[in-house]
Amino acid sequence: MVEKKEQLYEGKAKKVYKTSDPALLIVDYKDDATAFNGLKKGTISGKGVINNQMSNRLMEFLEKNGVPTHFVQELSPRETLVKKVSIVPLEVIIRNISAGSFAKRYGVEEGIVFQQPTIEFSYKNDELGDPLLNHYHALALGLATQAEIDTITAYAFRVNEVLKAFWKSCGVTLVDFKLEFGRLEDGTIVLADEISPDTCRLWDMETGEKLDKDRFRRDLGGVEEAYVEIRRRLEEKL
Ligand code: TMP
Repeated sequence: MVEKKEQLYEGKAKKVYKTSDPALLIVDYKDDATAFNGLKKGTISGKGVINNQMSNRLMEFLEKNGVPTHFVQELSPRETLVKKVSIVPLEVIIRNISAGSFAKRYGVEEGIVFQQPTIEFSYKNDELGDPLLNHYHALALGLATQAEIDTITAYAFRVNEVLKAFWKSCGVTLVDFKLEFGRLEDGTIVLADEISPDTCRLWDMETGEKLDKDRFRRDLGGVEEAYVEIRRRLEEKL
C-alpha cells in the first residue's frame, strides 16, 4: 500500500502529493474554481468529488479504447493515485463545434458544427496567459519533439472519437475539450491531468443546455446542478 507523503504542488483545482513510491503521485481534487487565468475565483460545492470520479471513469474507458493514461487507482472520493509524469507544457484543445475563444477569435457564432474536428495547442504558461501556438513554435521552444507532437495529436483525436460517441450515448454533445499529456520516466507519452466538466464543453443534445464550467465562467447559475446532472448521465453508462 502506498503512503501519502508531503505536498508537491498546489494548482488552481488540485493538489498533488508525493507518495512512498517515487513513480506514483496522489492528486486531490478541490472545489475551487477559477476562470480567465485565475481572475475570477469561486467555489463549486461538490465539484472535486465529481471531477475526480468522472475523470477516473473516463480515463479507464479510454485505456480500454487504446489511449494510455496516468490513472492507477481511485483512493477516496477526492483522491486518486496516478503515475508520476513530467507534464508536456502544451494545452491540447480539440473542437467539434464553434464556441468560446474560437468563436471570439474568428468572429463567428457559437454552435457551428465543423465538418471535421480542429486541434490547437497553447503554451501552458500562466504568466503569459497560455498563448496559442502552432507545432513549429512548440518545436522551436523545445516544448516537445516532433515524434511526441505526432503521438499527442493521434491520441487527442482518438480521445475525441471515443468520448464523442460515449457522450452521445448519454444524450450529450461533446463540443470541445482540453487535454494535457505527460512523459513517464522512460519517455512514454500518456494522457494526464483530468477530463471533467471543468475541461470540456458538454451540451444537452435536446435542449442545448450547458452542463459544464461555462455556467460558472459566464455566471449562468445552476452550476452545481449542472455538475450533478452530468455525473448522473455518466453514471447511467459507466
Ligand atoms: P476556450 O474556448 O476558452 O479556448 O476553451 C476550449 C476548451 O478548453 C473548453 O472545453 C474549456 C477548456 N479549457 C480548459 O480546460 N482550461 C482553460 O484554461 C481554458 C481556457 C479552457
